Amino acid sequence: MGRIILTGDRPTGRLHLGHYVGSLKRRVELQNSGEYDKMFVFIADAQALTDNADNPEKVRQNIIEVALDYLACGLNPEKVTLFIQSQIPELAELTTYFMNLVTVSRLQRNPTVKTEIQMRNFEASIPVGFFCYPISQAADIAAFKATTVPAGEDQEPMLEQTREIVKRFNGIYGETLVEPKILLPENQVCMRLPGTDGKAKMSKSLGNCIYLSDSEKEVQAKVRSMYTDPTHIKISDPGKIEGNTVFTYLDAFCRPEHFERYLPEYPNLDELKAHYQRGGLGDVKVKKFLNAILEELLAPIRARRKEAEQDIPEVYDILKRGSMQAREVAAQTLSEVRRAMKIDYFNDAELIREQSRRFGQE
Ligand code: TRP
Repeated sequence: MGRIILTGDRPTGRLHLGHYVGSLKRRVELQNSGEYDKMFVFIADAQALTDNADNPEKVRQNIIEVALDYLACGLNPEKVTLFIQSQIPELAELTTYFMNLVTVSRLQRNPTVKTEIQMRNFEASIPVGFFCYPISQAADIAAFKATTVPAGEDQEPMLEQTREIVKRFNGIYGETLVEPKILLPENQVCMRLPGTDGKAKMSKSLGNCIYLSDSEKEVQAKVRSMYTDPTHIKISDPGKIEGNTVFTYLDAFCRPEHFERYLPEYPNLDELKAHYQRGGLGDVKVKKFLNAILEELLAPIRARRKEAEQDIPEVYDILKRGSMQAREVAAQTLSEVRRAMKIDYFNDAELIREQSRRFGQE
C-alpha cells in the first residue's frame, strides 16, 4: 500500500496568502520530498456547486484561476496529478454508496458544516447537496485511497467523518478502503492567517485578502493599509504586538536572512518587536519591511503565473490529462468497491453459477 496524498480547493475565487501558508507551500514541499508514491491535487467544482448552484458561471471562471495559482506556486503537473472533481463520475457513485453509512444527526454534528450553514443563512432551508458535502468529500478521499490529506484545521471534522465512513465500509464489506490522516500546517500562524484588516481569517467575502495574483502595487497598497495597533499614533508611542496584523504576518513570513537583506539595523524579529513595544519605531518602517519580504515571496509566483497565462489552452490540457489519469485510479477503486458490496453481478461468476444451481439447471 503506497503513501498517497490528496487535497483540493473549491473554485470560488483566486487563491490568497492564507491558502499559501495554510496549504500551498506545504504541497510543493511534499511534491518535491520524494516521500510519496502519488499525489493528487484537485479543483472541487462539484463541491463549490453545493452552495453555488445558481451561479455556475462563478465556478466556471474560477477553475482556470485556481489552476493558474497552482502552477504559479510551483505545483508541477509532471509530479502531481491535477484534475477537476466533476470529471470523475466515480466520485458521485461512491458518494451514493457512502450515504447509506452516515446518519442525518451525524452530519448535523459536523462543526464545519454547522458554521458554514450559519454563514450562508441556510438555517431555514439547506440544500441537500450542501448538507451532504462531507460525504462527497469522504468519497473524494477514499476513491484515491489517500493516506495523507494536507489541509487546514477546519478540515479536521471532514477527515474524522471520512475515517468513520471508511471504517464502517470496511467493517461491513471487508477491508477495501484506506483510513486517511490529516497533515496540518506546522504552526499556529499558518493554521489561520488573519486578513489585512486584522479579522480572524483571510477570506474573499470579507475583502481582506492579499491574492497570489495581486500586482506589486496592489500588495503595497494592502500592506500600507494593514491593521496595526490603533493606539500607536506617534512614532514615540509604545506599540502592541498582540493582534497587530503586521507582526502576525512577520511571524508567518519573516526569516533571519530577511534582516540582513532589508533591515540590517536589527538582528532579529524579537529585537524589532521589543523596539516597537518600547516606542520609537513607526508602522511605516515595519510595513516596508513586511512588504519587501512578501515581494520576495510573491514576485516569482507572479512571474510563473504570467508565464502560464501565455498558454491557457495548455492549462486546460493539463487538467484534462490529469482528469483522465485520476479517473483510471478512481475507476479501479470503484470496481473493488462494487465487488466488496456484491453489486458487480455481471463479473460475479460465482453468483451466476449459484443461481443456476438454485433454479435446477446444474
Ligand atoms: N473542502 C475543501 C475546501 O473547502 C475542498 C475539498 C474538497 C477537499 N474535497 C477535498 C480538501 C478532499 C481535501 C480533500 O477547501
